[in-house]
Formats: sequence, C-alpha cells, structure tokens
Amino acid sequence: DKGGYKHFMAKEIAEQPTVSTEVLNHYIRRNEIVLPDAGLDFTAINRLTMVACGTAFYACYVAKYWFEQVAGIPVEIDVASEFRYREPPITDGTVALFVSQSGETADTLAALRYCAGKADKIVAAVNSTESSIARESDLVLPILAGVEVGVASTKAFTNQLMTLAVLALEAARQRGRLNDEQLAERIAALRSLPGLMNSALTIESRCEALALKLAEAKDILFLGRGIMYPLALEGALKLKEISYIHAEAYASGELKHGPIALVDKHVPVIVMAPRDGLFDKTISNMQEVMARGGRVLLISDAKGIEEAGDGVWESLVMPEVDPFLSPVLYALPAQMLAYYTAVAKGTDVDQPRNLAKSVTVE
Ligand code: M6R
Repeated sequence: DKGGYKHFMAKEIAEQPTVSTEVLNHYIRRNEIVLPDAGLDFTAINRLTMVACGTAFYACYVAKYWFEQVAGIPVEIDVASEFRYREPPITDGTVALFVSQSGETADTLAALRYCAGKADKIVAAVNSTESSIARESDLVLPILAGVEVGVASTKAFTNQLMTLAVLALEAARQRGRLNDEQLAERIAALRSLPGLMNSALTIESRCEALALKLAEAKDILFLGRGIMYPLALEGALKLKEISYIHAEAYASGELKHGPIALVDKHVPVIVMAPRDGLFDKTISNMQEVMARGGRVLLISDAKGIEEAGDGVWESLVMPEVDPFLSPVLYALPAQMLAYYTAVAKGTDVDQPRNLAKSVTVE
C-alpha cells in the first residue's frame, strides 16, 4: 500500500521522521543507551571491522567517522565483495559488524561467515531480524525501519545511521570519552533529528523544481568533505540507480587531483556543505569548481549559503544541525533530488532496471 503516494520511495522518504523516532525510543530510555543483552564490551575492542554493500556500506562509512572521532576506536570498512576475497587477517580484539537492510545479501553473508570464529564478536545491524545475517550473528541490532519496498534504500539508510550513532555513543561512554553531561547533549541532538527531518521534508517542492534542471544533465558530480564525503557517495548512488544519470562523488579535497578536469558548464556539481569545521575548505573547493564554469548546487543552512557568497547556480536551504549528525539530515535532500529527477525522467522509480531489492547472488 503506497498510502496515497505515487511511489513507495516517496512514502518511505516521508516516513523517516517516524521510523527514526521509533529506533531512538528502542535504544534510548531517558538518557541511557540500552543495547540488547548488554553484549558488547567496547573497552576490550582494538578494532571494529564494518562490512556491507551499496547504501549499507555508505552507512558504515559515515559511522567510521563517529567511532573514530567520538569513541577513539580504529575502524576498517570494506564492501563485502572485496573484503572476503582479500582474506584480511582478523586480529584479537576485533569486533565485526555487518550492516544489511535485507539481511540476505550474499556477499555480506559470506563476509560474515569468513569472520565467524575469528572475530571476538559478530554483530549485525539489520532491518529483517528473521534473516540469515541476523541468525548467524552473536548480537543483532534491529534498525526498525519497517518494510522497505523501493529498491532505492531511503529510510533503512537513515535508521542504519541512527542505530550506528547510538552504538558509537555507547562505545564512547564505555571508553570514558564522554561523561554523563556530554552524553546527554549528544542524545539530545539525536532526539532533535526527527523534528529536523520534518523541516527538511518541507524543501520537497524546491527539490522537485531543481530536479527538472538536473534531469537534463548527462553527468553530475557530488562533493563532500569529512563525514559528508560518504553522504556525497550515497547521493551519487541514489541518483544513478533511479534516474540513470551518471553521477560520481569525490572528497572535495581530491578534486584537484584529477576529477576537476570533468568540470564544465554542462556538469552540475552538488556540494553538500553543512557549516561544520571543514566548511571553509569545502567552500574554497566549490569556488575552484565555479572558476572553471561549473554549475554549483550548494546544500547548506541559511548562514552557510550566505557565507558562501555569490555565484552559485542554485542552493537548497537546510535546517541547522549538530555537525556530528549532519549526514543523517542531509540524506533527505539527496533522496528527494534523486527521486524527483527520476520522476522527471519517467523511469520506474520503485523498480529500476537491472536492480533487485535483495541481491542474493554473488
Ligand atoms: O539489503 P542490503 O542492505 O544488504 O542491500 C545492500 C545493497 O544492495 C543496497 O543498499 C543497494 O545498494 C540499494 N539499492 C541502494 O539504494
């Protein structure tokens, strides 16, 4: 049931404030983080290895920044199809974490089996708790997104992020890197997200208008720095899988090492730049793009857009958000831009060509 929406994807985008509230209520009681059967001792961990495919991999990529910066745990991330054939050594004190909406992705399951018996603990963050990945894990963290029908993952991504953010905060608490007051502040920021998502959803008609312009492009670049780089990757994946427009993401600082050669007036460049500690650097990369005739769509908050000055092609005004959590909120405009671009192109949004919801073959 599409609940009055034209596509499941639109419905699932709109459900994010609700399902993100549900996952927070599940893992946080007052200011305390509650994990199933208290199964993880983060003080004994030397390394966290996170493995997944596609959008779930980008959730791991964002979470790497959280675990490293907030909890001080070295994190390795990999796409499942590469991880398993690389035969990486799993050293003592490694926790292996697998993220999967379906819980049935063949490569992710095979990577899990590779780690079983080697890692100290196998943890799964899944939407389907009745899945193979859940069954073969020591600890299952449901992401509680509800059934996701659209092939393009939306609410599962943001709920994966919410779950991983909670886990990173718990790790930081256990390792003495956040006191009670600091933890309470982080939890308050998390709790503000569903409301901010509701505000972000109000820019939908603006995304729809911009999508008419994006739909004319043959190639689109996404730029982000720091924790926004994985979000740029996710934005490009979302756009290409449903609109069939070629899209690539680069870390902003990497641009001048090659990709800037692609920039001309035909290539829209979507810059995801919340006002965080790296904002000025991202903006100077953005100006390099504009100096070469690139058409920049800047996504930032009102102050960020003002500070960035004149010359951008278009902008999208986001609510202000704690920089730590900006990837969760900025996922929404990325999804809406992809969605409306696909609608403008008349593609089969919920069932894009060549793709399956669950990839159970290698
Ligand atoms: O079910 P999973 O989370 O393991 O699926 C992983 C990928 O196949 C999936 O995220 C895919 O990239 C989506 N179509 C992206 O929107």
